[in-house]
Amino acid sequence: MKIFLDTANIDEIKEAIEYGLIDGVTTNPTLISREQKDGKSFSDIVKEILKTVDGPVSIEVVATDYQGMIDQATKIHNLGPNAVIKIPMTLPGLKAMKTLSEKHIPVNCTLVFNAIQATLAARNGAEYVSPFVGRLDDIGEDGMEIINQIRTIYNNYSFKTKILVASVRNPVHVLRSMIIGADVITMPYDVIKKLAMHPKTDEGLSKFLSDWRKVAPDGSFPI
Ligand code: E4P
Repeated sequence: MKIFLDTANIDEIKEAIEYGLIDGVTTNPTLISREQKDGKSFSDIVKEILKTVDGPVSIEVVATDYQGMIDQATKIHNLGPNAVIKIPMTLPGLKAMKTLSEKHIPVNCTLVFNAIQATLAARNGAEYVSPFVGRLDDIGEDGMEIINQIRTIYNNYSFKTKILVASVRNPVHVLRSMIIGADVITMPYDVIKKLAMHPKTDEGLSKFLSDWRKVAPDGSFPI
């Protein structure tokens, strides 16, 4: 099971790499738009992320027609060997997925909201499929149930497409994804940091440190 960071913020990416927390990165046009400051262009942002991350980085096309998607995908692909092309789940998107996968260009099919869409993406050779669980929860559905269904279908028919759980909002999404057997979970940095935290850990550490002051009142480590 791999963890990807869902951001285009280079400082977050560098910090998460230092902590050994991430295997890759996902971006989207909204996340990129938040980083367009200090005169940085889309191309500058993407190139820096690709250079920094030793793993797959998903970058999304913004064309909605088949040829436009292929042209943009080719440009993204030429930026670096770890670039994965994010293509939306639409009819032109499915056609683009088929063309790109035939050329062995990895695709992440995005904006997936049910298991049938995920199955079509797998049939057309997507390397990753991104079901958006949080956005389904937002409209009163159980996003995680979609992950369950996709896992079952992919196992039934031996699809190799990796399930990349997206729109993750909390550690419960992460736990349920791991129990179901998702391949990748992408999440914002604040959710990743929460994975390492527990109030009983903080309480226990605080007690150990206060007891240690009986051994070494100045807090030193006298060896
Ligand atoms: C995934 O690749 C998307 O970038 C992301 O997970 C969307 O999350 P949101 O629904 O919190 O915007």
